[in-house]
This record gives sequence, C-alpha cells and structure tokens, in this order.
Amino acid sequence: MALRMAPSILAADMSRLAEAANRVAGAADMIHVDVMDSHFVPNLTVGLPVVESLVRSAELPLDIHLGVADPDHWAIRYAEAGAASVTIHAEAVKAPVRTLRAIRGAGAQAGLALNPATPLEPYEALLREVDMLLVMTVEPGFGNQEFLGYLLAKVSRARRVIDEQGLPLWLQVDGGVNLRTIESCAAAGADAFVAGSAVYGAEDPGAAVAALRRTAEEARGLAAANFGQPTNREGDHNGTG
Ligand code: DX5
Ligand code: ZN
Repeated sequence: MALRMAPSILAADMSRLAEAANRVAGAADMIHVDVMDSHFVPNLTVGLPVVESLVRSAELPLDIHLGVADPDHWAIRYAEAGAASVTIHAEAVKAPVRTLRAIRGAGAQAGLALNPATPLEPYEALLREVDMLLVMTVEPGFGNQEFLGYLLAKVSRARRVIDEQGLPLWLQVDGGVNLRTIESCAAAGADAFVAGSAVYGAEDPGAAVAALRRTAEEARGLAAANFGQPTNREGDHNGTG
C-alpha cells in the first residue's frame, strides 16, 4: 500500500535545513516545507530563495505548503523552482482553478489545503483539479500543536468523496501527527502524512519516519479489510516519479 511520508522541516534546526532534510532521505518520500508569510498565518518562515536552494541540496522531492496570503501570485513560482508538489490554501486563493492549473502546468503536483473551519463541500467539484487534498488537523502557523481529533470526520468524508469520484489523489493530514494520532488518521482514509515534531523531535528522525509509516500501513490495511474499500492507487503511479 503506497503511503506518502513527508517530514516537516519546520521542526528541524532551521539553520541546517539541507542536513535535516537529508537525515530522512532513506525513510521518507518527500520533505514538507512550510512557507509562511506572517499574513495568512502569524508566523514567518522561509521563502523562494531558501526553497530554490533546497531543491538543489535536498535528496528528496519537496512538498511545499504555502501558508501565504497571495497564493495566486506565488504558487507558480515554487512550481517553476522545482518543487514536486505545491499546496495552496482554499481560504487564501482567489482563483483556485487558474492557480491549481498553473501549478500543474509548471510541472508540479497541485495541492489544496483546508483549514479546520473550512468545509470540504464547496471544493468537492474542484477535486479533479488537484493531486492532493490537505485536511489540516491544527490551525496552520506553528508546529507541535495539539491534534484536533474531531477533524477526522472531515478526513473520512474526503476519503468517501475521493473514492466515489474515483479520483487518483492523495489525502494528506498535517498538524499534530505522531505515533499516537497517525493510526486514526490512516483508518479515516489519509494516505499522506506530514509530521514535524514527531520526526525531528526524535533522536533518530529516520527511524521515527519508519515507525510512523508502519503504524499507518497497518491502520490503512485494517480499514481496507474492514470496509472493503478500494484505494484509487495501486502502487505509486501518482507518486513523485
Ligand atoms: C503547521 C504546519 C505543519 C507543522 C506540523 O502550520 O503546516 O506542517 O510543521 O508540525 P507538527 O507535526 O509538529 O504538528
Ligand atoms: Zn505544513
């Protein structure tokens, strides 16, 4: 069963990002980079120059999470810089179809993120425009926040819609994902996982990723066995290539 593990370097030593990214190279699938502009979220992290450097120095493909107020302007720049995936927020984007298509047109996978208070329903018709749906399980802005378990209902609903529409897209969760919470995320239908503090707070980040993956794989396997749910993806054809 293909799962996508993306450690968030927000929880790493920010003065040694490439080193942090490459510590999980053998264990993870992508490196999650939180771009925050202090407007969309109350935090300021890294921008285009740092991402351009990371594209060159990180061994794994980059999963860019744009916590910025103007994704219509910025998203394509990150795709053109060589990010494998660029995720924009539904709450910030003004022309989602145009911006998602611009990301794909620049050769990256297009992601759409929903904050805790943002319902899935208005975006269901747009899922064909995306390669990954991100259901936030905390308010974006900071690492190491408490996982909001009541959002698992949104993850389950998203899984149902994705399977009903037969769409080949990843369902990602981000925020408070750790060894305790990943099981319920995977059982609810998530197959792509961001984890910051659970990975970089561990003594061996690679081993932490492997343990998270094992736990998620078991939970996804159990859920599929219990509900006989097809998964849209056999193997990794929607992967990072
Ligand atoms: C939160 C970010 C997350 C953050 C997750 O705004 O989007 O990617 O790094 O950190 P943890 O896994 O520690 O909750
Ligand atoms: Zn993130």
